[in-house]
Order: sequence, then structure tokens, then C-alpha cells
Amino acid sequence: MSITKEFELIGMQKASEAVAYTLKEMIKFAQPGVTTKELDEFGGKLLMEFGAKSAPFVSYGFPGWTCISVNNEFCHGIPSDLRILQEGDLINIDVSAELNGFFSDNGGSFVLGNDQHQYQNLVNASKEILYKAIHNIKGGVRISDIGLLIETEAKKRGYKVIKNLTGHGVGRKLHEEPNEIPNFRDKYNTSRFRKNSVVAIETFISTTSNYAETLGNDGWTMIGNKGGFMAQHEHTIIVTDGKPIILTEMNEIWN
Ligand code: CO
Ligand code: CO
Repeated sequence: MSITKEFELIGMQKASEAVAYTLKEMIKFAQPGVTTKELDEFGGKLLMEFGAKSAPFVSYGFPGWTCISVNNEFCHGIPSDLRILQEGDLINIDVSAELNGFFSDNGGSFVLGNDQHQYQNLVNASKEILYKAIHNIKGGVRISDIGLLIETEAKKRGYKVIKNLTGHGVGRKLHEEPNEIPNFRDKYNTSRFRKNSVVAIETFISTTSNYAETLGNDGWTMIGNKGGFMAQHEHTIIVTDGKPIILTEMNEIWN
């Protein structure tokens, strides 16, 4: 969406506060021994306290309030009673919600406790690359140039990017124009970021895979076409003439 009125800005700020606070608290709640179902129920309760509705649930009928993906799962992991978090797990939580007609989206990967499987480098790369990408976005910048920046920064650190997962416009719906903000230079994408538009910028940095594939048995969970691991970090921002307004900054994924 494009922000043209004050109530739209306030609406986006409130929806963003709900998803950012929920993500931050869920990351704190995650502990060895907690199931992803318990973590999701905790997040769902926080969203409800804001009066917010889970966006993947209302938009796509996703079987959970948030997406929680563990280790080899890249994204869209379904919260489960059977999935018990363990020390050293690579966890991704993605929280998006609708509040009073406004949608906001954010997510982050982190290592649970002691980094015994050495995922922290990957996580740090994704965080740093998101920071750099967002701070290079302003009105008039080509979407494909930000894709090139993300891909270049990933390669520099010895990582790959996922080509079929992208950032996107957000605001009145979870996914809206521009429909794709890729992590690589798409030469056919000639569109530019527009001042006052609201977009969700997300990294998909991986160790070995270039594509994410949906697991057949549940129809949601995505894993890598060549296996390995992936880290994602996501903020919802408003594009300006200068530094973007980071609506979900209080999720503290950069801390
Ligand atoms: Co998103
Ligand atoms: Co998201």
C-alpha cells in the first residue's frame, strides 16, 4: 500500500507493533523442551491481546498462528506438539497479522542457546544483509539493485540465496504489489521502490540450496532443493526519500 493519510500511518504502526512485540516475546519464550505448538499458542495469545488476527491463518488458512521452522525446515513450518525444541536448534519464527484492516509482517532466525551446530554465522550474515539492504532502499531505487546487493553480500560470505522466496508489498493485504522483491538481480524486474509505499523486506540466505520446495506430506513446510540450512530476517518498512521508516524495529532482531 501507499501511505497517503495519517490514519493509514497510525494503522500500520499499530499492526507493526503487534507483530514486532509478538515476535520479540516468542523468541524469548523459546527454550529447550518447549514444543513449537506451545510457542505458537503463546504467540497467538499475544496477537489476540492486541486484537490482531494471524495473517497466514486468515489469508491462507495456515494451520497455526505463526510459522515456526526448525533446522532443515526453511519456512512455513507448522506448529506441532511433536516438535520439541532443543539446545542449538536453528529456529525461524515469522509473525504476520492484520489489525483494523492493516497487515504487517516480520520474522527472524536465531540459534537456541549454545551454538553447538555452528549456525550463528549464517544467522549473522542474514541479519547484516537485511540491515544493509534496508538502508539502501529509498524512492527510485530499482528492486533488482537491492536483489543484486543481497546476492552479492551472501556470496561474499560463502552463502547462496533462495530464488523462489521473496519480499513483497504489504499493508491492506499480507501480499500485495510489488509482489516480488527477490534476493537476486532479476533483470526482467524493472520496477522501482516508490516513496510512501509499505514493503516487507526479507532475506533468504542459505548454505547449499537455491530453491525452496514444499514437503508433500503437509503441503506447507518448505525445505531446500539441495538440503542445508537457511536464515531469514524480515522487517516491514515505509519507503521515503532517505532512510526508510522501519515499522517493526521493536522486534529487536538486529540486537
Ligand atoms: Co513476508
Ligand atoms: Co513474514
